[in-house]
Amino acid sequence: MWKDLKIFCERGSGVEFVTNSERETEELGARLARRLEPGAVVAFTGDLGAGKTAFTRGLARGLGVPDRVTSPTFTIVNEYEGGRLPLFHFDMYRLVSSEELFDIGWEDYLVRGGVCAVEWSENVSDALEEDVISVEICRGEAESRRIIHIEGVAL
Ligand SMILES: Nc1ncnc2c1ncn2[C@@H]1O[C@H](COP(=O)(O)OP(=O)(O)OP(=O)(O)O)[C@@H](O)[C@H]1O
Ligand SMILES: [Mg+2]
Repeated sequence: MWKDLKIFCERGSGVEFVTNSERETEELGARLARRLEPGAVVAFTGDLGAGKTAFTRGLARGLGVPDRVTSPTFTIVNEYEGGRLPLFHFDMYRLVSSEELFDIGWEDYLVRGGVCAVEWSENVSDALEEDVISVEICRGEAESRRIIHIEGVAL
């Protein structure tokens, strides 16, 4: 199935993909998961309903996390153990400044040897390191189409 996800084009150092369903976006996440190392930060940008949580569900599957990933909007962070690496799934939608990151223990998460997947990373961009893996999801012309630009990792 993965092979059907065509590389749309390359720009800069990143790679761009087109997906035509939620399932394909999850598949892309699962593929990226295989490349992730302890301490990796996957920083998402993209609108409400773009597919950030869907992509993260794929990350979890690719890491072998047994639980179902749900949106952490009201909890800020959900933790998943049981996979190749722990997965920490953040939703920064409600954060208004990166100073609030300290309250949720962001720096502790960074050194726990897991993967931090960060929805609404634009809200805390000044606090993120430059070596994050960035995943930008944009809507395509068709209802179920997404254009996904990934930078910072070799796929
Ligand atoms: N190609 C696609 N990839 C991902 N999701 C898609 C795609 N096509 C349609 N969808 C739909 O878009 C929605 C994506 O929801 P999801 O919760 O993953 O978005 P999100 O970016 O996490 O939003 P939020 O900012 O509210 O957290 C789902 O309803 C999904 O079925
Ligand atoms: Mg979400």
